[in-house]
Amino acid sequence: MNIVLGITGGIAAYKAPDLVRRLRERGAEVQIVMTNSAEEFVTSTALQAVSGKPIRSNLWDKEAEAAMSHIELARWADVVLIAPATAEVMARIVSGGAPDLLTTICLATEAPIALAPAMNRVMWSNLATQANREVLEHRGIHIIGPGIGSQACGEEGAGRMLEPDLIAATVFNLTGGKGQGLLEGKKVVVTAGPTREPIDPVRYITNRSSGKMGYAIAGAAVAQGADVVLVSGPVNLREPPGTEVVNVESAEEMYAATHAAIEDADIFIAAAAVADYRPVAVVKQKIKKNDEAMSLELTRCPDILASIAALDVAPFTVGFAAETENVVEYARGKLEKKNLDMIIANRVGRDCGFDRDDNSAIVLWDGGEREFPTSSKVELARNLIELAAEHFYAERGSETQPGLTVITNND
Ligand SMILES: Cc1cc2nc3c(=O)[nH]c(=O)nc-3n(C[C@H](O)[C@H](O)[C@H](O)COP(=O)(O)O)c2cc1C
Repeated sequence: MNIVLGITGGIAAYKAPDLVRRLRERGAEVQIVMTNSAEEFVTSTALQAVSGKPIRSNLWDKEAEAAMSHIELARWADVVLIAPATAEVMARIVSGGAPDLLTTICLATEAPIALAPAMNRVMWSNLATQANREVLEHRGIHIIGPGIGSQACGEEGAGRMLEPDLIAATVFNLTGGKGQGLLEGKKVVVTAGPTREPIDPVRYITNRSSGKMGYAIAGAAVAQGADVVLVSGPVNLREPPGTEVVNVESAEEMYAATHAAIEDADIFIAAAAVADYRPVAVVKQKIKKNDEAMSLELTRCPDILASIAALDVAPFTVGFAAETENVVEYARGKLEKKNLDMIIANRVGRDCGFDRDDNSAIVLWDGGEREFPTSSKVELARNLIELAAEHFYAERGSETQPGLTVITNND
């Protein structure tokens, strides 16, 4: 894949050499086009070394134009990626102007264009920038990120450039068929649905979980190229194509199946509503209604989520917290107590959460959170998988990625 990589004058330009390496690891040819401001943040010498090609920056460079004109560059590109993309370059592209080489290529290319914005959170949330983002998206330009978190300016919020590996994976994904998903080569284990804890041969304790959220998550992970094992409690849903489904009933069976599947897993997402308690003893024959009252003695079920997070080599572990009250407070407590990487909190009740096609969520991690308003479970799952992938790469890096050839340079 031929990528024209535009680098503009944001502080995140220091990540550009890493991004070039990530793109080349995936087999791309990368031609860098820098703006004048970008040269204030990263040297063309470093970028030339990692890209293996002379850097282009000047529209009026006679020698470079003679070798490959701006129009030829625009034709050569399978994708034009701008990362980092400043607020300024977004505005220039929206205006349709072509005052420099990079924006001229953007006007002249028929290839998909993707931008990874990076800027101070106030710049990003400014109405002008948001209006520009909307126009760009409306024109079919892909906006990758930005991420949320601590910023170089010392602030906290939305505006960080996404991790280079995630940008690289997304760009390859955009090219449809040619490329890879965000989780290509990754193994993801998902649990879904309720469990049934038997009382006697005909009765059990269960809950209202339909499994729709977990199934949507498994499907979204497959769409991003992951190898997915879906450990499912009893549900009435079609198996998501491309997943390996392991059907179980009780919490103990789910515990065993999950641990059997977890070896080599990169990410574990526990979406199942596992029973907390089960009857101490399962009565062998159907219990007769002889007495006015009866009581059941219950005992704790195994904690699948905590046991996976506590493994010596634990995958990136994402839990769910389905709560009826104090949702965020309880979820943050669970995140810390169970030592999870991320938790997806959602309110459940008769009119929300369980057994519906839509859902909302607040995702929490150490030092941050992100709210997703109500949307279909499929769309929410897509967003959750992208967020989990972003944090997975940020925390574990691509070194954990099997099948990647790492280009070793002298840096
Ligand atoms: C130290 C410094 C850091 C900057 N960081 C950013 C940034 O992260 N994002 C951004 O949009 N603009 C940032 N700017 C402003 C841009 O550099 C400025 O808008 C410039 O005109 C962008 O030009 P370009 O888009 O052609 O590269 C920064 C400016 C300075 C002086």
